[in-house]
Amino acid sequence: MPGFPETRLSVTMVDVAESGEELFLALARELSALMARKEYGRIDVVRDESSPLRFYLVRQWASTASAQLCHADPETQSITARLTQIARVTHLVNGVTGREAFQFDERRAYTRADRRSGLDRRTHDTGRPEGERRSQGDRRVGARRLRGQAREIDLVGAARRARENADARFSNFKVGAALQAADGSIISGCNVENATYGLTVCAERVAMFKALSDGHRAFSRIAIVADTETLTPPCGACRQILWEFGGNLEIILANLKADESKHMLKNLLPLPFDARLLT
Ligand code: THU
Repeated sequence: MPGFPETRLSVTMVDVAESGEELFLALARELSALMARKEYGRIDVVRDESSPLRFYLVRQWASTASAQLCHADPETQSITARLTQIARVTHLVNGVTGREAFQFDERRAYTRADRRSGLDRRTHDTGRPEGERRSQGDRRVGARRLRGQAREIDLVGAARRARENADARFSNFKVGAALQAADGSIISGCNVENATYGLTVCAERVAMFKALSDGHRAFSRIAIVADTETLTPPCGACRQILWEFGGNLEIILANLKADESKHMLKNLLPLPFDARLLT
């Protein structure tokens, strides 16, 4: 392609929530200006003719290095985080990932590691009245949308479902968490207890460590669900880990009813200790 001898292409599919279109286009313009200003490459926004709220962001990188710089750029991450609030973001083509990120299977050549959680990968009928099956060939890769509620990503729903997997055989206190990464992926976790008690790991840390181990490095929100009247906040150890790896996350607390409260992590962890103090 003209201009970029080392051309690499990334294609992202964006399903914008109803009434979010204007904001989406503004964010796309912001991203485009950023990519031009910092010479990362260029971006084309293509609307899907058959699905008016679906767009494709086609990014043509100046080089592999500029793509990596762009992903790590806090300005990009801020735009991506805002984007994921109003849209489901699915990465279709990642022209930057090296071959080492692919699993080699002789029979099927290169196959991408499936980074969806067990929940999202589920296709069989669980017998729930509301149904878990996908319809119309819609390959679900993110969390489910709330029906009727501006199609916001249902992070609390994902945390509630993760809670069902909690192994809380000693405390009987089941907790679920769902962490949203900057690219829109949802990574869930539940608490896991064991006979020594002390080696118990909370839902929030399970979610964060799963996410880190899958290669995520930037996050926007986490939902935490327990079956309590008074909403359950993260424990001190989890606040520390969330802060160090997620920064000033939005923390959404919820229970099994409709109660919900939102907090910013910096308010739950004032005067934090982190790596900046080690220098
Ligand atoms: N727990 C969590 O998973 N997250 C919290 O925010 C609070 C506590 C777990 C740890 C333990 O398995 C059980 O809840 C009771 O403390």
